Amino acid sequence: MSESKIVYTCRGLTKSYPLPGGGMLPVLQGLDFEVEQGELVVIQGRSGIGKSTFLHLLGLLDRPDSGEIVFEGKRVETASLGRRAAVRAARIGFVFQFFYLLPEFTALENVMIPGTISRSVISWMRYRKQGRARALELLDAVGLADRSKHRPQQLSGGERQRVAIARALFNRPAVLLCDEPTGNLDVRTSEHVQDLFARLNATTGQTMIIVTHDEGMARHAGRVVHMENGRIIS
Ligand SMILES: Nc1ncnc2c1ncn2[C@@H]1O[C@H](COP(=O)(O)OP(=O)(O)OP(=O)(O)O)[C@@H](O)[C@H]1O
Ligand SMILES: [Mg+2]
Repeated sequence: MSESKIVYTCRGLTKSYPLPGGGMLPVLQGLDFEVEQGELVVIQGRSGIGKSTFLHLLGLLDRPDSGEIVFEGKRVETASLGRRAAVRAARIGFVFQFFYLLPEFTALENVMIPGTISRSVISWMRYRKQGRARALELLDAVGLADRSKHRPQQLSGGERQRVAIARALFNRPAVLLCDEPTGNLDVRTSEHVQDLFARLNATTGQTMIIVTHDEGMARHAGRVVHMENGRIIS
C-alpha cells in the first residue's frame, strides 16, 4: 500500500485522566495503530479499557497527552481547535456511545445537522431541499421513515441510535467512527444496521472503525483488533 492510502497512523499515543482522589489513571499507554482507506475495522476490549477514549482521539474531539496522529497525511493532534473542527466536519462521521441528539430538533433535523455545520448559511439555503431528501433517504435506510417528525424524547433508545447513525452518514464522510452503534438494538435491527455498514463500506469505500462487542459486526469486518493494557493488539 502506498502512503497515500493510509487514513490513520497513530504512534505512541498516551492519555491519562485525573483520578478524583488525586493521581492519574493511565488509559492509553503507547498505542500504535494504522488504518488503510476502505478498511472496516472492529475494535473490541473490555469495559473501561479506553475504547471510547481512543475513538475520541481518532475523531479529533480530544488530544492525546503524547504521541502523534496522522490523518489523511497530516498531523492533526497539534492542529488548532478550529482546524480540527473543520477536518472533522468535512471528513469524519461519528456515532457516539450516547448519541447526543439535539432535543429541540426532530429526527429529520438532527440528521441534517452535519450539513449545516460543514456549509456556509447561503450554501446551506441552496442545499436545504436536497439535504431534506437525503435525510429522509437515510432515515428510510435505518428503518425510521415514519419517525422523521419525532423529537428524541419521543423515540426509543434504539430509534435514537439509528437517528445518530443516519446523522453520521449525512455528509458522506470519508471515515465513519462508531462507538457501540448497535448497542441498543435488537438482533434483527442490529443485523440490518450491520448490513447497511457493510454495504456502504463495499460500495462507497468509506473507511469504518467500529467499537463493538457485537460478534455479528465482527463477522463483517476486514480486521478485528483488541485493546489491552492501553494498546491495540491484533
Ligand atoms: N473524562 C474522564 N475523566 C476521568 N476518567 C475518565 C474520563 N473518561 C473516561 N475515564 C476513565 O477512563 C477509562 C476508559 O474509559 P473509556 O470510556 O474510554 O472506556 P471504554 O473502553 O469505552 O468502556 P465501555 O466499553 O464501558 O464504553 C475508564 O476507566 C473511565 O473510568
Ligand atoms: Mg465506551
